[in-house]
Amino acid sequence: MAASKDELTAAVLHALADVDSLVTSEVFPQEKSTDIKAALDRLRSRSMLVYETLERDEYLLEPEGEQIAANGSHEARVFEALRQAVGGLSVADLEKAVGDKQVTKLGQGKAFREKWIAKTSDGNFKAVASSITDTTQEQLQAIQKNHTYPDSKVVAELKKRKLVRLQKVISFRVRKGDKFALEMVREETDLTADMLASGAWKTATFKPYNFEALGADQNAGALHPLNKVRHEFRQIFFEMGFEEMPTDKFVESGFWNFDTLFVPQQHPARDLQDTFYISDPERADPPRAVDANDKKDYKQYWDNVRQVHETGKYDSIGYRYPWSADESLKLVLRTHTTAISSAMLHKLAAKKGPDGRPPPARYFSIDRVFRNESVDATHLAEFHQVEGVIADYGLTLGGLMEFMEIFFGKMGLEDLKFKPAYNPYTEPSMEIFSFHKGLNKLVEIGNSGMFRPEMLEAMGLPRDMRVYGWGLSLERPTMIKYGISNIRELLGHKVDLNFIKKNPAVRLDKA
Ligand code: PHE
Repeated sequence: MAASKDELTAAVLHALADVDSLVTSEVFPQEKSTDIKAALDRLRSRSMLVYETLERDEYLLEPEGEQIAANGSHEARVFEALRQAVGGLSVADLEKAVGDKQVTKLGQGKAFREKWIAKTSDGNFKAVASSITDTTQEQLQAIQKNHTYPDSKVVAELKKRKLVRLQKVISFRVRKGDKFALEMVREETDLTADMLASGAWKTATFKPYNFEALGADQNAGALHPLNKVRHEFRQIFFEMGFEEMPTDKFVESGFWNFDTLFVPQQHPARDLQDTFYISDPERADPPRAVDANDKKDYKQYWDNVRQVHETGKYDSIGYRYPWSADESLKLVLRTHTTAISSAMLHKLAAKKGPDGRPPPARYFSIDRVFRNESVDATHLAEFHQVEGVIADYGLTLGGLMEFMEIFFGKMGLEDLKFKPAYNPYTEPSMEIFSFHKGLNKLVEIGNSGMFRPEMLEAMGLPRDMRVYGWGLSLERPTMIKYGISNIRELLGHKVDLNFIKKNPAVRLDKA
């Protein structure tokens, strides 16, 4: 019967008491090597013993091999039956005498070849050898006893005949350790006040720290991958002197989401198919100051926006269509955070720096936006937009490209490619591509441009103040980072919580 854990550790200690070393398979042939190892590890961690692992091949008898070891080989059994029958036996009688048809059949042929038996003139079998040596039986008996055999050809042959099989045996050679004792000492895990008072601490054995222990799994909350990547982006923005924009509203009026950005009211982006419109309430109030500190002239701004669309202004000929106030007041789920950038730039226009002009500014935001798109593996009807804006005097397109290289370089994205693009609110506009090593192709990583004068001058920003803007989705770098190919693995009810929990913190420079 297998010993319990404690019994086994005690048995190992006692077996080791009077010897220098022992091999576990000899002393504990019945115990499983995994149980033995557990007991040895326990004792080794207390320096009570040391051990090395021994691995060897052992031959064991198959059931048929065991039968031969006990009763003799088939040919020997045939010979034996005939030796006892004076005058020989018929086939039927031989079978009876041997007691097994199959053994008789197989043994007969072999016994013939060995010239142990012969046929008589009347067709019977008789023994002809005076005595025989049953080598097969002897070999098998030797293997049964020693689990090995000096002649490897013999074992190979027996194995082929399916009389023996090979087995790997793990055992351990064990020696006493520095702290060998017959009893396992109780190891203290804490130094208590009682031990200090009684002086027991002086003789106590303390359990050593196990620096290799992994520690218990903490059932703690976990940050979503999007949050981790967002955190990295925020760090990059803060490090580059950006201020975070207040994006805490999902609903905007068409005015802020589109009109202030010089998006014409007939633009396809404003279609029901592309934008979610709010049904209750349907309309916003015209833009107005929300607190007493807000001294901006919203009426003037509203008129400027109308004029720049309808008739043109600031040296622009405009779009020349009848601009509808009603369209502008429709409430939408914001389609981009550029609506917030617009409001922030409008605020900036009212600020006065040391020279009495709006001061340079750097803004960013990372928040949710909504688009009425058909949902597929890489698109949802909502996503998170990373947006940046830089306002300063004398900015150039080359400066924007350089800035993009620095910004994306901080994420490990290098060798950017710029492709001319179109946005109603920027001119020039550029899509930004980067070579993705994993996908082995150029992937679009962002959209950018220099905001148009039609947008900026309507707000009251000075003509020589230029503004860079760019945007990208938070989902794309996150999916690339974590090797996710379907957005549903990242968001929604199909998300594997274990994946969320186990995935590591992100370092964008390893992108
Ligand atoms: N609003 C753009 C988008 O949704 C991003 C962008 C912002 C482009 C600012 C240019 C300037 O893709």
